[in-house]
Amino acid sequence: MLAETKSYTDTAATLPETRVVTLTVNGTRRQLTIAPWTTLLDALREYLDLTGTKKGCDHGQCGACTVLVDGKRINSCLTLAVMKEGADITTIEGLAEGDALHPIQSAFIEHDAFQCGYCTPGQICSAVGLMNEGRVRTTADIRELMSGNICRCGAYPHIVDAINEVLQVPKKA
Ligand code: FES
Ligand code: FES
Repeated sequence: MLAETKSYTDTAATLPETRVVTLTVNGTRRQLTIAPWTTLLDALREYLDLTGTKKGCDHGQCGACTVLVDGKRINSCLTLAVMKEGADITTIEGLAEGDALHPIQSAFIEHDAFQCGYCTPGQICSAVGLMNEGRVRTTADIRELMSGNICRCGAYPHIVDAINEVLQVPKKA
């Protein structure tokens, strides 16, 4: 028993304190010196001050932390930043082009698709990822494929309407 405890201690002692990670975030190359266990979410929020991406559950269950990695949506709380070395990350701050909002952002405003707004950056990034996937054929698909994103104040019908407008799927399908 004692030997087992010792071996855990030895393993911990060999971990490097920090690692250098290079990411392209919203089009800009960034280099971070971080502990190897830093999540991508914490790297964005705590080291790059990109606080648009929200921490909800921190356990992969709410989708508030959704960002795009090489165009694919992921829960950034479940990913270590070091695992994304060299990747292209897009957060909510990187979706607009200057003053021109992304069509999903405009549709969210038009359809009043947020209430408290806390889940909104994750919902919007997830919707952009959904567009990139090209798998939506019906409104039911939107609901199903957005089901990893939880909205606690219940803006779901407006969120679906907003995404529907951009993807232009039949409303009653
Ligand atoms: S904060 Fe990442 S899924 Fe909830
Ligand atoms: S807008 Fe409040 S949780 Fe979704």
